[in-house]
Amino acid sequence: MASEGKNLIGVDIGSSSIKVCEIKEGRRGARTITRFGFHPLPAETIVDGHIINSSAVVEGLEMLFAKSKRRNVALRASGHGVIIKKIAMPLMTAAELQEQINWEAEQHIPFDLEEVHVDYEVLHERTEHGQMDVLLVAAKKEEITDLTNLAMEARLRPMVVDLDAFTVQNVFETGYGAAASDETSVLVHCGAATTTVNILADGTTAFTRDIANGGNAITEEIQRQLGIGREEAESYKCGGEGRGIVPREVPEIVNQAVDQLAGEIQRSLDFYLATSGDRDLNRICLSGGTANIQALVDILQGRTQVPVEVLDPTRVADVDEKALADLQGRTAQAVVSVGLALRKERERH
Ligand SMILES: Nc1ncnc2c1ncn2[C@@H]1O[C@H](COP(=O)(O)OP(=O)(O)OP(=O)(O)O)[C@@H](O)[C@H]1O
Ligand SMILES: [Mg+2]
Repeated sequence: MASEGKNLIGVDIGSSSIKVCEIKEGRRGARTITRFGFHPLPAETIVDGHIINSSAVVEGLEMLFAKSKRRNVALRASGHGVIIKKIAMPLMTAAELQEQINWEAEQHIPFDLEEVHVDYEVLHERTEHGQMDVLLVAAKKEEITDLTNLAMEARLRPMVVDLDAFTVQNVFETGYGAAASDETSVLVHCGAATTTVNILADGTTAFTRDIANGGNAITEEIQRQLGIGREEAESYKCGGEGRGIVPREVPEIVNQAVDQLAGEIQRSLDFYLATSGDRDLNRICLSGGTANIQALVDILQGRTQVPVEVLDPTRVADVDEKALADLQGRTAQAVVSVGLALRKERERH
């Protein structure tokens, strides 16, 4: 993908917080992260991917952009109402594919084509079989319009909308060197409400899945077992800052909930291994706020016997002093906003 122009500002409206990232790119391609902004959202602001409390989001965006003249943004859409499928098609030219793709999408997507935006990318050409693999992405227009309208209410100009799986992949490929072509890397992005698994084999997406489990489920388990409120449970989960001593039951409850999550991730990996013919997973890279839980790293590694590391988004760029201070303790949470901030105002596919 060739690209030009300035970088867009990455805006990740997650269900627990908004993350904003700005990257400056010099003529020679040297990048610097010049800003990271974080704004927590009240509970129930976004439920099942739907923005229920839009004024909380608009207020958050206005605060984050109060001092910013630049308004061109790349937004993250929740995976709700989005279908990602890898399909096999006969080899054809780009122009033929453009003509065929809607017909093809109709066969694979259970929504009315009038209601969705369809995007696609050729992953592989298997010339010997006369076939090619195409990644098909269909997103409900309504979900995307709601999101862009909200951003416009906060006087932002949305130029690009992307998904967690692909923004994390962008950070991984940019920061870690294109995944070696004979290796398989598993990117697991674990936020508050959702966990997204994206398996890259031979440098392209081989499998994606959204799991409706994440940090919220762990907090809820602490609430339930200790009979306490959300904020208190959330604080104990994150180490108890400002709350005094963490009850001694907490680590065990966290381990149980994390094991459940790791089990769901492992089932996705098992499914991939059973159906793809791929034999080895080389690494698992974790991102999202829930990647801060060391037990998730340890339990996932123990279950899968694959090395697990936490993705470091600062590998894509230098970081200036102010941004470094704002990123402190939040690098795993910043990954999607960093991936969005790598996108350019003008991109040629
Ligand atoms: N230090 C920490 N220890 C444990 N959990 C943490 C820590 N920091 C953040 N989290 C958890 O990470 C989650 C928030 O992560 P993130 O910001 O990636 O989610 P989000 O983008 O708001 O949600 P989603 O993308 O699922 O809608 C919360 O559940 C929060 O409790
Ligand atoms: Mg998120």
